[in-house]
Amino acid sequence: MAEACKLAAGNWKMNGLRADLAEARALAAACSEPGCGVLLCPPATLIAPMAEALAGSRVMGGGQDCHASESGAHTGDIAARMLADAGARHVILGHSERRADHLESSEVVAAKARAAQAAGLVAIVCVGETEAERDAGRTLDVVLGQLAASLPDGSSAANTVIAYEPVWAIGTGRTPSLEQIAEVHDALRTAVPDAAMSLLYGGSVKPGNAAEIFAIGNVDGALVGGASLKAADFAAIVAALDAA
Ligand code: 13P
Repeated sequence: MAEACKLAAGNWKMNGLRADLAEARALAAACSEPGCGVLLCPPATLIAPMAEALAGSRVMGGGQDCHASESGAHTGDIAARMLADAGARHVILGHSERRADHLESSEVVAAKARAAQAAGLVAIVCVGETEAERDAGRTLDVVLGQLAASLPDGSSAANTVIAYEPVWAIGTGRTPSLEQIAEVHDALRTAVPDAAMSLLYGGSVKPGNAAEIFAIGNVDGALVGGASLKAADFAAIVAALDAA
């Protein structure tokens, strides 16, 4: 069976001006040796300049969302081909902040993932339960339900990465126990259509907890928010994944 690729992905969310490209350059300098995949997903305004700044380095660039259509009358939206044209290799889709802020259903996420894959991008499809859903004992139901509905036909390890992000762990400094992460990742591994698909954990990953999270079976990397904004912190997380 093919091994899943290791990936450390940073999600800058709605943070970053051109001056912050210095952090991306510092990350590339700190990650000069070959190792796991390293990805930064800045706001759309920085994708092209970041791709230029990181050209030839180990650090790839990606987007945080795309539209399901190739082009057309969708003011303010960005097509997957445009992300690819700007130098993106990946795109985060179905993040819980988009599911909440923009009422994105898993069906919408699947349509976006199909568009991303057609444009040659790797879709990073996010799933995760709320605290109320976990407290109700519904974690696996919710996560596996989102997974099944968010992946279009043809999703494979080559064009899709899954990120498990418990909503209550995002930006809170709280993380699930290692056993809770393992339970969800083990369930995801049996549910994904291609066993070699990379499975990332996301939610309050920091330099101090990365190594123990990466030691969990079926965790192939992380999707990192706050700690990806500082090159030194993200480089330490990359080093932990390299060592795992
Ligand atoms: P934090 O690492 O800031 O908790 O964010 C996680 C996340 O939402 C990444 O997509």
